[in-house]
Amino acid sequence: MKEMAGQARAEGRIIGLVPTMGALHEGHASLIVRAKRECSPVIASIFVNPKQFGPNEDFSKYPRTFESDVEKLQHAGVDVLFAPEAAEIYPKDFSTHVQVDGLSDRLEGRSRPGHFRGVATVVMKLLQIVQPNLTYFGRKDAQQARIIGQMARDLNLDSEIVVCPIVREADGLALSSRNVYLNPEERKAATVLYQALNAAKQELSGGVRDALHLQTSLRRKLSGEKLAAVDYAEIVDAESFEPVVRVSRACYVLLAVFIGKTRLIDNLYVVPKEPGSDEFVFQL
Ligand code: PAJ
Repeated sequence: MKEMAGQARAEGRIIGLVPTMGALHEGHASLIVRAKRECSPVIASIFVNPKQFGPNEDFSKYPRTFESDVEKLQHAGVDVLFAPEAAEIYPKDFSTHVQVDGLSDRLEGRSRPGHFRGVATVVMKLLQIVQPNLTYFGRKDAQQARIIGQMARDLNLDSEIVVCPIVREADGLALSSRNVYLNPEERKAATVLYQALNAAKQELSGGVRDALHLQTSLRRKLSGEKLAAVDYAEIVDAESFEPVVRVSRACYVLLAVFIGKTRLIDNLYVVPKEPGSDEFVFQL
């Protein structure tokens, strides 16, 4: 992979990287479409990274659909698939990790200790191997994208980190490889995340700025669904991921909710219409 990417670089080509864990869906495809617009070659990676799963998480049962993934990547026009084995990425004596302090401890990091250390470490390795000009991430995992951006800045990486909008099902459920865990009843219930975020968007459009007020309505909406158990529902600053008291600058409304045994995340991105404005636009 290093040689191949090195060759493309020597030819002065713009290399795009789309890191994934496979079980590909239209969310992943949207990153590839964007990468294809801006790069050639586009390299996709599939690696179910053991280091980002906690001991009681779903590493062993994480969906692995390699053959249909390959078809999807071919269909999407990916030039190169990089699908290394775990032993290549983490040989026996592997002992270096990347830890992005602060940002990694909150929200997802608090619920999933060690998760972002695993993510940052594997993404760092992928960036070292491929040395892409641009690397594409989904806003579905907003905190992950923020942490990778911080790592790239802190460690002077040359790759630009591009963050792309969330792709949703027709009823609003954000696409996720984990949606296959949902039974039909849970699948219906899972739309409550989108509905709660949409309600928050309406309140914000109507002028509500108080984070506690927004959070209370989010929780009320979510508790209306009997299969849902909230892990967190927070309004945070889009840079620091610290909770805000008032929405007065770029923020995320972030949700992590169990639907049955399946943990789903989703978010609403709230951005001032122009710098300093008290009017906001939304990405949902
Ligand atoms: P994975 O969950 O496979 O996601 C790969 C990329 O697809 C991530 O950047 C994620 O944010 C994006 N993505 C997932 N669902 C999306 C959706 N509905 N709309 C838009 N983008 C979506 O995230 C990971 O893998 C891993 O942590 C990884 C970065 C590959 C490191 O192991």
